[in-house]
Amino acid sequence: MNKYLEKLFSPMTINKLEIPNRIVMAPMTRSKSPKGIPNDDVASYYQKRAKNDVGLIITEGTTVDTPNASDDVNIPTFHGKEALEGWGNVVNKVHSVGGLIFPQIWHQGTLRRADTTWNSDFPSWGPSGLALANKKVSEPMTVDEIEKTIDSFVKAIYSSKELGFDGAEIHGAHGYLLDQFFWHGTNIRDDDWGGISLNERTQFSTEIVKRARKAVGDDFPIIFRFSQWKQQDFSHKMASTSEELGLFLNNLSNAGVDCFHCSQRRFWNNEFDGSDLNLAGWTKKLTKKPSITVGSVGLTEDFIETFKGKESKPTDISNLLERLFLDEYDFVAIGRALISNPDWVSLVKNEEYDKIKIFTPKDLEVLI
Ligand SMILES: Cc1cc2nc3c(=O)[nH]c(=O)nc-3n(C[C@H](O)[C@H](O)[C@H](O)COP(=O)(O)O)c2cc1C
Repeated sequence: MNKYLEKLFSPMTINKLEIPNRIVMAPMTRSKSPKGIPNDDVASYYQKRAKNDVGLIITEGTTVDTPNASDDVNIPTFHGKEALEGWGNVVNKVHSVGGLIFPQIWHQGTLRRADTTWNSDFPSWGPSGLALANKKVSEPMTVDEIEKTIDSFVKAIYSSKELGFDGAEIHGAHGYLLDQFFWHGTNIRDDDWGGISLNERTQFSTEIVKRARKAVGDDFPIIFRFSQWKQQDFSHKMASTSEELGLFLNNLSNAGVDCFHCSQRRFWNNEFDGSDLNLAGWTKKLTKKPSITVGSVGLTEDFIETFKGKESKPTDISNLLERLFLDEYDFVAIGRALISNPDWVSLVKNEEYDKIKIFTPKDLEVLI
């Protein structure tokens, strides 16, 4: 094995948890959990990736206990007896083959399409009721609703520990609720939950992390996923300088985040002018905490193209590995390539790159 692959297959810790290699399965919504309950097919799907040596699995986004966290009854919830039992089965199956698994805890905020889901009459929540700047879909959240939502995240993270998950990831990315607090376009509040600086708008997420950390203790690993880009604005950079990014991240880090999952659509894009570092590179440098890079690893097309029906061909990963070798980031998350190739890790380990299959959007239709 060459030195780059040796690095990819070397262990690394998050908090006190040792992950056997640097490969993380990226969270991907599959909408295959009828009535919000992850069934045995869901458990087998994750078990298969664990059996095939994925170092750490982050589940698809699974939603907290407010009436309006989700816009699809087939997206698994993370509350209620049956859904939690389903998740318990997922954990057991993954652990039975030696895998590690974190749930991704999610609230869609004002991106929820109320007409397609449960509690259709219940309004969607967002800090200012905006889905994007000037697009009002509901009233701003009341302070009581904010407190209830924070509690729902804390409860979910606590439940993940009780169910035996190895840690939890908080979904703070892609324009959903937590990101709606970060973004000046969707958070125009002038109380403690808003403010003119990104630093001030981080308060909602830091409260979730602080209270969750208190609930689960010091040793339970917590990952925070964030992105500069929003579904509502792909080119947006909420932190326009590395200083601003540092303030934002260190609020979260000091609150108790152990590792940052830095969502880019193309991992190789540098984050700020004047440096080749990507988002995960800057994050590791600024926080001194482990970081995960993601975005078109080993694939030609950006994942957004998936939703326009485009397939993605396998590509070379030498640049990814060289940068990992230089410790720019600590982990690499693989999304679509792990859907079309449950055995992606062993194919890479054995350098059987020619056996890696193309990802096509059709692969999303079934859970295998
Ligand atoms: C079908 C699909 C569902 C996704 N669902 C989620 C999700 O639930 N939570 C999340 O944070 N990202 C989600 N993403 C984004 C992925 O985690 C990942 O960042 C993206 O696919 C880029 O990685 P890739 O290029 O290796 O696929 C999803 C992506 C796809 C293709």
